[in-house]
Parts: sequence; structure tokens; C-alpha cells
Amino acid sequence: MIRISQFMTVAVLLGAAINISAAPGIRIDHLGPANTLVRVDGDDNPRYLLLPVQESNGDARISVLKDGNPDRTINVRLAKTKVDYYVPFDLTPYKGHVMAMNIVMPKSRESVRDAREDACWNNFQLADTFDTTNREKYRPAYHHTPLYGWMNDPNGMFYKDGVWHLYYQCNPYGSKWQNMTWGHSTSTDLVHWEHHPLAIEPNGLGAVFSGSCAIDPTDPNKIWAMYTSADVSQIQSLAWSTDGGETFTIYGNNPVLTLDSEARDPNMFWDAENNRWVLTLAHALEHEMLIFTSPDLKQWSLQSSFGKGIGAQGGVWECPDLFKLATPEGTEKWVLLCNINPGGPFGGSATQYFIGDFDGKTFTADTDADGHVPTKWMDFGKDHYATVSWSDAPVGRRTVIGWMSNWQYAAKVPTQQYRSANTLPRDVSLFRAPDGQLYLASAPSPELTAMRDKAVKRSSFAVGSKPASYSLPQICEITMDIDAAKAKTVDMVFSNKTGEKVIITYNVGDHSLSFDRRQSGIVDFNQDFASVTTSPTFENSGKVSLRIFIDRSSMEVFEKDGRFAMTNLVFPTQPYSQLTVSADGGRAKISNMTIYSIK
Ligand code: FRU
Repeated sequence: MIRISQFMTVAVLLGAAINISAAPGIRIDHLGPANTLVRVDGDDNPRYLLLPVQESNGDARISVLKDGNPDRTINVRLAKTKVDYYVPFDLTPYKGHVMAMNIVMPKSRESVRDAREDACWNNFQLADTFDTTNREKYRPAYHHTPLYGWMNDPNGMFYKDGVWHLYYQCNPYGSKWQNMTWGHSTSTDLVHWEHHPLAIEPNGLGAVFSGSCAIDPTDPNKIWAMYTSADVSQIQSLAWSTDGGETFTIYGNNPVLTLDSEARDPNMFWDAENNRWVLTLAHALEHEMLIFTSPDLKQWSLQSSFGKGIGAQGGVWECPDLFKLATPEGTEKWVLLCNINPGGPFGGSATQYFIGDFDGKTFTADTDADGHVPTKWMDFGKDHYATVSWSDAPVGRRTVIGWMSNWQYAAKVPTQQYRSANTLPRDVSLFRAPDGQLYLASAPSPELTAMRDKAVKRSSFAVGSKPASYSLPQICEITMDIDAAKAKTVDMVFSNKTGEKVIITYNVGDHSLSFDRRQSGIVDFNQDFASVTTSPTFENSGKVSLRIFIDRSSMEVFEKDGRFAMTNLVFPTQPYSQLTVSADGGRAKISNMTIYSIK
């Protein structure tokens, strides 16, 4: 198998040489200073044409021709002065046909002679395999990531026959946002993910933006998908699968829903009481969610809108989800998830939610004692976005997953072979906080406890200003119960030998927990990354129980029952190897502290 590193060597060698023509089998004709035709000759070609990418470049527009007819258009940052990495273009669908790429480069050169100098032309390669081996230092060990390339929102998740299906916004041709396609992974335990072929690719109506899936209530073998087709407009499209979510047939009469302004991310469910479908759609720039109903997923009637002037309004409203949950008192309430970007509590992207009632047509949010609809956040970190839930999950469960990044810097984080991971999956429920209001808890999904390996347990101890220290495995889960007792603050510092650290502080006075990543490692790739995030702890007892998950480039802090969650990326140059715990203003009691290595 040819590995990427070997390609890299070849690329560097070729880049240094003069007048070396393209690899055998590849024909290149420069048609003008910004226009080149690349053709692949012959019938028994290797499986892939590898496209050389330089991330700092703009996108080249590549019209792919099959026997001279337009087949698809993709946008790729073709290399101009150096090759950063390759992306695979699958030639299988072109077997027995002539495949040509009519390429328009983003910036015109002075002359055709100059255009020939672009680094990409001599670096197109044919290969039978594309190596996706995980060798990035920051690639998570136990979070879902794409095999390679860019990922953002989770999409169309459904659960069927013991399998959790996760689709996601991905770019198969680079590690920055572009060519939006639904990638597909499945898991039987929410920890180990198997990668499947691309599920829904861009078509004549545009790229495939976010959306949802649901199992047909009359035919359990049929899975419906609704997504936004995005080109110059955003319109809603329908597709279905009869092979368990592996491939989808695009409905020929798309779009099924159009508006005259930006609307996206359709999220539908079957309303058994009223015998019809309900759809929530983000009316992005109007900062509201629209609710439609339909007997057949094809004819939609607008029933209501929710959100004008309510909640956080600082950015576009995206990725809605509407579902019912039991209250602690045994009644039922509806939850409307509303992802917003920018306008999150710590800048950029975040997930707000509303709790209220839904009568099959209209969502009405509960108000606080002053008659206001409170703004509530699902996660108090900077890296939790586009969170939505699995449809058709096992009875009694509402399981969600988010994109673990922030639009402020997602394309700048220090990885390249892939970009972005998902958060850990979480099961949500309602709880009543000391202020008398209902809130949404996000607890790590129960499956995650099976990841626990060797446990190092500490007996209960009291701690003051002299820190207690523990060594940490690179990837781990830490549990502990804190009773602040007389202390004013309790600090947990996660550090490495170079002095990089994350400081988590439980502040008893204002019942909050903060996460300071300003010295956590590499932070200078974007001005918005170095930051402190703070969560209410939803208690007034001076006691808090935590579960903290550390992976290679993330930390997720949960109150043990999910009363708060805080998800933050970190890029330490070496793993955090030490945890110190100390208290200020008095001694605090720590009990049930366990450090679990993760399998
Ligand atoms: C949210 C979002 C969605 C859209 C998708 C495009 O992150 O902007 O609204 O469908 O990303 O990739």
C-alpha cells in the first residue's frame, strides 16, 4: 500500500524538479492562464486520482466531465506553491468512460507559461489506495472523527436494530468547509464508530446541508431524510433509503419546501397523535424557528413560528430539534433546541434551548417568575455546536451529539489530515434547579462507562492551599465529589512538564465552575481561542460531583448527572500528566476520586 508520507516525499521531489510532466495516465492541457484540462486515460486505471491540496489557496472550481458531459462540480484548494496533502477522487464511476476535469483556478496567472508553474500539475497521482491511517497527534482516541478531511454538524441521526447511525457535514476534498456532503458512520455502543461510504452527495440542486432522518411509521424498512439543498438559495429536499441508511434515493420532485429567504436544517418527526409529520426549520436570519406539518413529507403547511425577540438573538438560528421529555414531577414538557452562531455566551457558536409546550402546531415557551422567557444554554464550553438528537432511539432515551468546535476558529485548529470531532454522546433529561425552574441535563451516555479501564482510587481527603498531586494517563476519565466545606474556591489544575495547564475552579460564592484554557498549550492560531468559560453549578449546597473526560485535544466536564456540561478543545504540546487539587479560604473535602484510564 502506498502511504501518504511516501506521496509527500514524491511531491517534494517533484516540486524541486523542473519540467517533469504529470504522472503516466494523466494528461494535462493548459487552456489559458486560469484554465486547465486534466484527463485520465485508459480503462484499467487505479481506483483514485489523488488531488494535491494547498490549504492556504483559494478553491479551484473543477467541473468533472464523463464522456464530455457535465457530471458534477467540486471545489478543491489545488496546490500553487507546495502540496500540503492529497485528497482522493474516486474513479470507479468513470470506468469505461472518459473522465476529464475542466479546472478553473481561483486566481489567474499572468500567462499560460506562469500557470504551468502551479505545484498541482505535476503532482496529480493515480493510486489504488488512499491511506487514512490516524497519525495526527491531536486526533481523539475515543471521539468520533471523519476518516480524513473536514467535518461540521452531525446530521440525520437515527437508531435502528441496535445500530446508532450518525451522518455528518463533511468535505471529501479537503480539511476546510466546502462541498457539503453527508458522511456516514455507525456504532453499536456509541464509542466505536465504523465508517461507511458517503451517503448523500451534492447534486443539481446544490450542496447537501444539515437535516434529519426518521423511520417511516408504516414501513420500518424505509428511512426518510430531509436536508437543505444549498446553492444560491436554500431549499428543502427529500431522500429515502431502503438499505438501512447506506444509500439514499433522491426524490425526483425536490425541493419539497421553499421560502423566499434563508431557511435550513429541517428536523422532522412523526406525530402519532395527529397522524402527520412535524417539521422544525431554522429561519436563520430572522432568528426564529418555523413549524410545518405534512401528511406525506411532500406537502408542507406552515403552522407557526417561534423565537422573534426571544432568547439569544446575536447570530443566525440554525439546527433546530423539538422533542418531548418527562419532568421530575411526572408530567411532560417539550424542548426546542436552537443552535446559534455567533452569539454564544463565550463568543461564537453555542446551543440554547427553550422548555415549553407544543400542541401539534405551536411551541410556547415557559416563562420565569417575571414573565420572561429565560435564555438557557445546553453546554457552557466554547466547543459544543449544532447539537441535535437521534430519532427512534430506544424507548425512554433522548440521546444527542454535537460538533466539538466553534465557527470562530474551526478551520484554524492545529490539525490538517482531518478537522473536527464530535462531542461525547449525551443523554438528556429535565431537572428542577434551586431557582424552581426546569433545565435540560446532558449526562454522558451510559455506554461510556464501558470505556473505563484501570481505576486508580483515592480515599477521601481534605485539601487546603497545599496542593495534592496525582499523575494522569494521557486519555482518562476522572470522577470526584467536592464538598467545599469552609473553602471559598477549589482549584483543579491539569498540567504537563512544559507548564501548559488548564485550571478548573469551583467557586462556592457564586455557585459556578470555570475552565481557563488561556495557558492550555497551542492557543495562538486564533484570537478567540484563549478563553475562560463559566457555568452555573445549579446547586446551593457547596457540593458538586464531577466527571471529567480528557482526550488528546478536548476536555469535557460534567456534573455527574449532567446538570451542567462544559466542552472545550485544548491543544497541549505534551499530554497533561498531572492533576493538582487545592482549596483557598479553608479546607475542602474531596471524596470518591477515581482516575480511570480509557481502554
Ligand atoms: C451550522 C450550519 C448549518 C448548515 C451547515 C452547513 O453549523 O451552518 O446551518 O446546514 O452548517 O455546513
